Amino acid sequence: MSIESEHDLIALQRIGRIVAMAREEMLSSVRAGVTTAELDRIGKRVLDEHGAISAPDITYGFPGTTCISVNEVAAHGIPGPRILEEGDVVNIDVSAELGGYFADTGATIVVGTRSPHKEKLCQSSLRALHQGLQKARAGAKISGIGRAIHNEARKDGFTVIRNLSGHGIGRELHEMPDSILNYYDPRDSRLLTNGLVLAVETFVSDGAEYVVESADGWGMLLPDHHYAAQFEHTIVITKDKPLILTAV
Ligand code: CO
Ligand code: CO
Repeated sequence: MSIESEHDLIALQRIGRIVAMAREEMLSSVRAGVTTAELDRIGKRVLDEHGAISAPDITYGFPGTTCISVNEVAAHGIPGPRILEEGDVVNIDVSAELGGYFADTGATIVVGTRSPHKEKLCQSSLRALHQGLQKARAGAKISGIGRAIHNEARKDGFTVIRNLSGHGIGRELHEMPDSILNYYDPRDSRLLTNGLVLAVETFVSDGAEYVVESADGWGMLLPDHHYAAQFEHTIVITKDKPLILTAV
């Protein structure tokens, strides 16, 4: 969607804050011994407290409130009995609806403190998100976002996942424009417009470029021995820096 009124902006800011709070509470609860179902319940409690509803649940019938993806799962992991262990790479992705408006955010964290390689991957992906957001302004090409993300990942010797991408959002979880890629596609001539609402999400990996669907029908799996780190913000395009709706 594109913002057309003060009400649009206020309503999006409201749901943006809620998913960001859920993300932060869940991240601060990540530790060895916790199950992903327990983390999901924390996210659900935050959404419930504010009257928000899980977007993947109402949109796709996802069997969980939030997506929690561990190690070999890069995205859309189903929360469940899996117990987190030291060194696990954990992605938390929270998207929700309130009053007809949607926001989407994600972050990746490593369990414990002794995994410099995995930490570096997370930091690279977060930096890539901010580099991408710097290119997100009215009049610029959408493809500039992916170019900036990929350049940042490459600087650190990392790859990007080519078949996972960001998307338009606002009145639904996934809207046009679709395929906000993590790399530069020279054929993509679409322009960013003032007020456009986007979910920009980085998928940076230590070597993988594609994911495949898991047998559970939801999880997106990395090739063996590879990890990925995702960070995501919902933003509003302006003539200057984007407005980040899911910052805390
Ligand atoms: Co998301
Ligand atoms: Co998203």
